Amino acid sequence: MASENYPFEIKVVELEGKEGLIKFPAFLRIGPKGYVLPEKFKHAATNIYNMEVRSSDVFVTSFPRSGTTWTQDMVWLIVSDLDYERALNIPLTERYAFLEFFSNFDDEMKKKLHDVNKDDKAKLKEFELLFKPGTEILETTPSPRFIKTHLPLSLMPRKALEAKVVYVARDPRDAIVSFYHLVNSMRFVNLDGDFKAFWNTVVNNIQPWTPYFDHVKEAWEKRDHPNMLFLFYEDMRKDLPSVVRRVSDFFGKEYNEEEIARLCDHLSFENFKKNPSVNYDLMKELGFMYADREFIRKGKSGGWRDYFDEEMTAEADKWIEENLRDTDLCFPSMQ
Ligand code: A3P
Repeated sequence: MASENYPFEIKVVELEGKEGLIKFPAFLRIGPKGYVLPEKFKHAATNIYNMEVRSSDVFVTSFPRSGTTWTQDMVWLIVSDLDYERALNIPLTERYAFLEFFSNFDDEMKKKLHDVNKDDKAKLKEFELLFKPGTEILETTPSPRFIKTHLPLSLMPRKALEAKVVYVARDPRDAIVSFYHLVNSMRFVNLDGDFKAFWNTVVNNIQPWTPYFDHVKEAWEKRDHPNMLFLFYEDMRKDLPSVVRRVSDFFGKEYNEEEIARLCDHLSFENFKKNPSVNYDLMKELGFMYADREFIRKGKSGGWRDYFDEEMTAEADKWIEENLRDTDLCFPSMQ
């Protein structure tokens, strides 16, 4: 289905019956790397790819559960001259347009969610905003526009690197544990299988947004591009002030030590978890998530060890080794 406006072939694939997957009617495989995405993404792919990009645009991008939200708020504050007043009062979901969010739900899920909110005007408005394609929201968004996506670089707007792109990567074992918890915290999401099954879908490249390593490597290959900043979640956990300085430099901002300390305090896990602007409690209010689950969950590195048995650990080592063989990409947690 490659066309004049879209250079990649989009294949609809049936993955029904595969354990460890959300029960979507179908999935897509896109382009030479075969990225997997929910079927609804076919309604977004071309518009996103050809989106008009402004040089002042700011993209924050990642494989899901790699520290996107944390990076988004850090980037937003650094670019917005540390405007805490707005950061605390305007939810992150309004400060950033999420390019493909609406395509992560099939019609049945959307209808169930709509019905939960249909009698409450305010909630319905929030719900409808979440399902509005990011490209439409951005048409009327004043600059600088902040944009979230989990798409790999090749499926992002083709001119994205004419703007600024911040990519955050995380040890895949932790990202996948976190992803599994997120999927399990969503109402109306029908996941077939346990963590091991979920993990296997990632290694076998059938989980949405995989192949994981291609996703990360595409960004890593551009890390020296003047408009690309490549971050690791593990570095943010280990030394957030240094990362804040790097991000500030990238955006041409200068902050003193006191300002950096305040920002790091604002971004600390404890403060983040209780900050309604970023903690996605909205998702509970709108019925997407169960009330007793957390979007900002543990905030640790290496927690994957509690989920992997010996066989999975060995398999993960092999998977990582094979995929890092042809690259100088090296995760801080694997040094
Ligand atoms: P865990 O589930 O391992 O706790 P994303 O925003 O890409 O969905 O990533 C979510 C992950 O980032 C979650 O990981 C979440 O807890 C973690 N996270 C979010 N804010 C954080 C913070 N301030 N400090 C450390 N980790 C954070």
